[in-house]
Amino acid sequence: MTKPEEGARLLASHTYGTWRPQKGWKKPLFITKAEGVYLYDDRDKSYLDFSSQLMCSNLGHGNKAIIEAICKQARELPYVFPGFACEAKARAVNSLLEVMPQGLNQFFFSTSGTEANEAALKIIRQYMDPRRKYKIISRYRSYHGSTAASIALTGGPRRWFAEPVNKIPGVIFAPDAYCYRCPFGLKYPDCSLQCAEYVDYMIKEEGNVAAILVEPIVGTNGIIVPPNEYLPRLREIADKNEVLLVVDEVMSGWFRTGKWFAVEHWGDTPDILTTAKGCTGAYAPVGITATTSEIRDFFEERFFSHGHTYTMHPLVISAIPAAIEEYKKLMATGLPQRVSEHLRKRLLVLMDNHECIGDVRGLGHFWAVELVKDRKTKEPFNTKADKAALKPLMVSKLSADMLNRGLYMAGWYNHFIIAPPLIITEEEVDKGVEIFDEVLTIADKEVKR
Ligand SMILES: Cc1ncc(COP(=O)(O)O)c(C=O)c1O
Repeated sequence: MTKPEEGARLLASHTYGTWRPQKGWKKPLFITKAEGVYLYDDRDKSYLDFSSQLMCSNLGHGNKAIIEAICKQARELPYVFPGFACEAKARAVNSLLEVMPQGLNQFFFSTSGTEANEAALKIIRQYMDPRRKYKIISRYRSYHGSTAASIALTGGPRRWFAEPVNKIPGVIFAPDAYCYRCPFGLKYPDCSLQCAEYVDYMIKEEGNVAAILVEPIVGTNGIIVPPNEYLPRLREIADKNEVLLVVDEVMSGWFRTGKWFAVEHWGDTPDILTTAKGCTGAYAPVGITATTSEIRDFFEERFFSHGHTYTMHPLVISAIPAAIEEYKKLMATGLPQRVSEHLRKRLLVLMDNHECIGDVRGLGHFWAVELVKDRKTKEPFNTKADKAALKPLMVSKLSADMLNRGLYMAGWYNHFIIAPPLIITEEEVDKGVEIFDEVLTIADKEVKR
């Protein structure tokens, strides 16, 4: 058995720390077990998981039903190549047909959200090629994955590090539906929804746009919930201009926002939906690209030019039906619905008590707390540019302090992402919020007066 100290050092010495300079990747926390909403290190210190790891462990840790489904599959038939059918594949497809938004009934399986979006991009471009349309409208506040094409679709600062080497042609960025810092300087509802109307303008001016790609509720880049009319309007704009509407629900899916998928809040049916993370509760790596049968029919006589060795890998997709059953059972208890309201109230009270908080926004178990030095001017503590310049960030300082106090919470250059597992109780929410409350005083001291 590896000694924890050695194990952590081995990792730091021989693996790449992701999304960071390597110099600070020295001694990662050595986790020995996880149960419910807690993780434990080698000294048995507990950490309350307030971000479901990377907003993916939606069903919490140690779920026996999902673990058993994976173990059973490992014993019975861990792998057959994508061209063969088997029980695990049939069950995964059947369970998805039950929960996907209406009309999305053709699936491509991969092993990550990144790959789900890569597949979507290839499908879009092949499908729209006869119409000579290839451009994709994405948005600045977005993340769609780490590989060359999916990072090119990303508006967030992670793209900056990848450019120009990983730039692909034909991706353009639209202004965000970010009411707290409206890119047009307008105020909802007197804004005529400029953020959506501008997309219409872009499509007409560009002339060859194939698709609009959005996270219905922006994830890492700000947990931005759009105005109610936004997504229905994008659907209209897409239809009017014969452009596909593609939603990335890698993070916002699987009851993160209170529904199977975030688009259901507005009743929209996209042409393509990509997802991953919560589809297995993060018990196994799966990505899913779901399309309409109309798109699938296009490939009837044409080459579907995509695939992986691990497409529809039976071992990992065996977790999908098990997770879906667990979501159904959990939602039937009413616990997530009750606790999300409690979480909302507790976070809004934090805003009353801390001047360093500029905005609290979210839905379900998906919230952002955005920091400001000055509430009036909305001056942030840090910007995208600070992140890119590797400057010390206030959120990183606070996250480190929270971790010391037994609370794990993800932060992204100027906001925190509060996205606990859906199994969290009111008492556990209180415990996390209390630690957060104490730590926020550090930023309060640096607020401009
Ligand atoms: C909205 C969104 N799309 C795509 C991805 C990429 O998924 P993965 O990290 O599984 O490749 C992420 C990851 O956080 C995401 O939040």
